[in-house]
Formats: sequence, C-alpha cells, structure tokens
Amino acid sequence: MAGLNIVPTGGGVGAEVRGVDLRAIDDAGFAAIERAWIAHQVLLFRGQALSDDDLIGFSACFGGLDWAPVQETGRRFVEGRPELYIVSNVMVNGEPIGSLGAGEAVWHTDMSYLPEPPKASLLYALEIPPSGGDTSFVNMYTAYETLPDDLKARARGLKVKHDGTYNSGGFLRQGVVPTDDPRQSPGHLHPMVCTHPESGRRMLYLGRRRNAYVDGLDLAESEALLDAIWAHVCQPRFCWTNQWQVGDLVLWDNRCTMHRRDPFDNSARRVMHRTQVKGAAPPAA
Ligand code: SIN
Repeated sequence: MAGLNIVPTGGGVGAEVRGVDLRAIDDAGFAAIERAWIAHQVLLFRGQALSDDDLIGFSACFGGLDWAPVQETGRRFVEGRPELYIVSNVMVNGEPIGSLGAGEAVWHTDMSYLPEPPKASLLYALEIPPSGGDTSFVNMYTAYETLPDDLKARARGLKVKHDGTYNSGGFLRQGVVPTDDPRQSPGHLHPMVCTHPESGRRMLYLGRRRNAYVDGLDLAESEALLDAIWAHVCQPRFCWTNQWQVGDLVLWDNRCTMHRRDPFDNSARRVMHRTQVKGAAPPAA
C-alpha cells in the first residue's frame, strides 16, 4: 500500500506504522500490517478516527473476535457489541463505564486464564489524562532468549497456572471466590515456554505474577522459580512504553508480549476501547 511506512520504536519491542488510515486499508495494506505485526509484536497507529464499528471491522481482519470479559460489576460494556471491552475510570450515574479504574494495571497477558487466550488485542484511545496512564509492553522472545541457561533449562517442560481470580487492576473477577492460594485458584495451565505458531520463535508465556503457580512444585519452590524468572523478564531493555495520544490505536501480539499500565490521577478521564482476536492454546516449545 503506497505511503505505508514501518518505523521501529527503538525500544525492546514494537514499531509505529505511518501513512495509513485504518478505515480504508486494501488487501496489500493489510498484508503489510500483518507481516509487521508478526515481526515487531506491537504496532502503534497514530492519528486514527475510528468509530466502534471501524475498530471492530479492522480487528476482524485478523480473525474472529472474542467476546470481551464482563465488567467487574458483571455487566457487559456496550449493549449489542459484546466484542468491546472498555478500559476506563469514568463513572456515569455512580457506575463505572469500564474496567481497571485509575490504578496501576500490572504486567499481564490478556485473558490467559482461559484455555484459548486471544492472539491479538487492539486498544484505541478516545480520551486520555494529561499525564500518567502510559502503557508498556515487554518482548517475551528476548526475555526467553536472554534467560540464564539454568533458568532456561528449568523453564522448558514446566507448566504454569494462569490465575483467573483477579484482573490486572487487582479487581476480583465476577463470580469468583477470592483466594490467594495459587494451587486452589481458578485458571488454566499453559506451558511456560511456548513456540509462536506463526514466527516459529520460542517465548516465555507467563500470564501474570499474582497467584501464578508452577504445576507439580511445592509452593515455596514455585514462588522462588517464578520470582527469579519475573525478575529477569521485567527489565527495561526488553520494553517499550506508549505515551498515549487521542486517536492512537495499539495492536499487540498477545502471545509473545505482556503489558502493564501506569496509574493516573482519578480526577482526569481516560477512555479506551479494546477488542480481542480469537487465538488457540499456545503450543509448548
Ligand atoms: C489492558 O490491560 O488491556 C489495558 C491497558 C491500558 O489501560 O493501557
């Protein structure tokens, strides 16, 4: 597609795609975007003007869309559009319009407590606070490749429980009985080291730290191993941070990245709309 330009972020992951209006991409443009997404894992598109239907339409180019998880209150976000997840601290008539509030959202992979987590997430900025609320991404290929040999050898062949008790904002998921015993909590086991089905590269697949559990180990051993691996993963050299502008669309590969969000002042408004593209169980390496 003429004019489309891919510019790496210069950080540990990601690229910006310039010269594209996501409401009007042709087949060649989409093929170039998909190739760039597999190569760079996270793509930023600035200056977009997307309606909810545009966001859903572009997202659906990557495959069928998942229904979003329900809000912490148990409600669906947007009547008639179950694919849309709203990330927001805004309250209307005393009720939150979205999830995750204004606090930190800790490192995580979206919906990895499910057997078949989404392969991609797309987050579109409608309103942003004057400061804070930046979102960081970490490259789980390089996190794996640079693991010390002893940790790499231990990680291969293990499975990790991805907890379904709390979301990344620390809020209890709807209908779940709270527990901080990772052996008892709801969730799903995935291989700790997986092979990306499209790039063929090996990656760490961790989900989130809270209530994670390495299957088959005693709890203290599991905690010690996870602490050692997480201490390696969250190094700034593997990361890139987006300082949001209204009209930014960020597309990430939910298999080979994790993300987190900085807190922001709750008296400011932040409204983001998110979609998730259906994925498959991440295959063991
Ligand atoms: C998310 O975890 O999907 C939301 C990240 C953000 O609020 O920037």
